[in-house]
Amino acid sequence: MLHIENITKYFGGLTALEDISFFVKEGIIEAIIGPNGAGKTTLLNIISGIYAPDKGSVRFKGLEINNTSPYQIAKAGISRTFQHVELFGNMTVLENIMVGRYLRTKAGLFACGFRLPSASAEERAIKRDSEQILEYIGLSHRRNEKASSLPIGEERKLEIGRAIATEPSLLLLDEPASGLNEVETSDLSFFIKKLRDQKNITIILVEHDMRLVMDISDSIVVLDFGKMLAEGTPQEIQNNKLVIDAYLGEDEEVCL
Ligand SMILES: Nc1ncnc2c1ncn2[C@@H]1O[C@H](COP(=O)(O)OP(=O)(O)OP(=O)(O)O)[C@@H](O)[C@H]1O
Ligand SMILES: [Mg+2]
Repeated sequence: MLHIENITKYFGGLTALEDISFFVKEGIIEAIIGPNGAGKTTLLNIISGIYAPDKGSVRFKGLEINNTSPYQIAKAGISRTFQHVELFGNMTVLENIMVGRYLRTKAGLFACGFRLPSASAEERAIKRDSEQILEYIGLSHRRNEKASSLPIGEERKLEIGRAIATEPSLLLLDEPASGLNEVETSDLSFFIKKLRDQKNITIILVEHDMRLVMDISDSIVVLDFGKMLAEGTPQEIQNNKLVIDAYLGEDEEVCL
């Protein structure tokens, strides 16, 4: 589904990513792990069109997308969440989902915003679909509350809800468990698996929580200082000497 080929990205004199290549199969959860500053978010930014790579290419369903705008990439079916939750804090929970939904309508946000005649029927459909998404993510009871008033676990879920409202076939999650407690994390883990299994969404998961990663990933890519250190199943990664030395550490508990 997604081919990452020889991706290199510089920030001034810093090489954030160097010659990264891997392939993400349709229908799986692919984790990207690595220490702070390894280049994980930079890679998600390249896939979602926020940055252009200096070398290499990204192909999604056979089409090269590395010179495509974030909007066009979202339209093509790639959606994402951010390391630091980025919701519209002053909007309600329902409105946040509706924003994601506009991408899939003919009129688009522009027409709806200016109340063109074509917009009203479509707006009702958007509202109905958004209510369904809220139901799916279990936040219906919060529909009229301000997004900024939610606890972090629900904020992260709402951000995923907004991302899936665009009907992506590929979803990029940047540290979705960050700031969550154990119960919220296990709830999230169940939810991410549900997106893969029920909605058939392929997922790229950047995450530091190793228990979550080892529990739900089908495949793992390990980055270290912008280089690709290893790729394999959770089992293979846990037994990889290079990975243990660079990242997981010798501690059995961390490797789990
Ligand atoms: N816009 C930018 N301008 C300059 N340097 C940047 C920029 N974005 C990232 N970097 C640098 O690129 C490197 C990789 O950063 P990146 O955010 O991709 O790491 P990460 O693996 O996501 O780390 P973390 O686990 O802390 O989120 C870091 O050294 C970072 O300082
Ligand atoms: Mg990051």
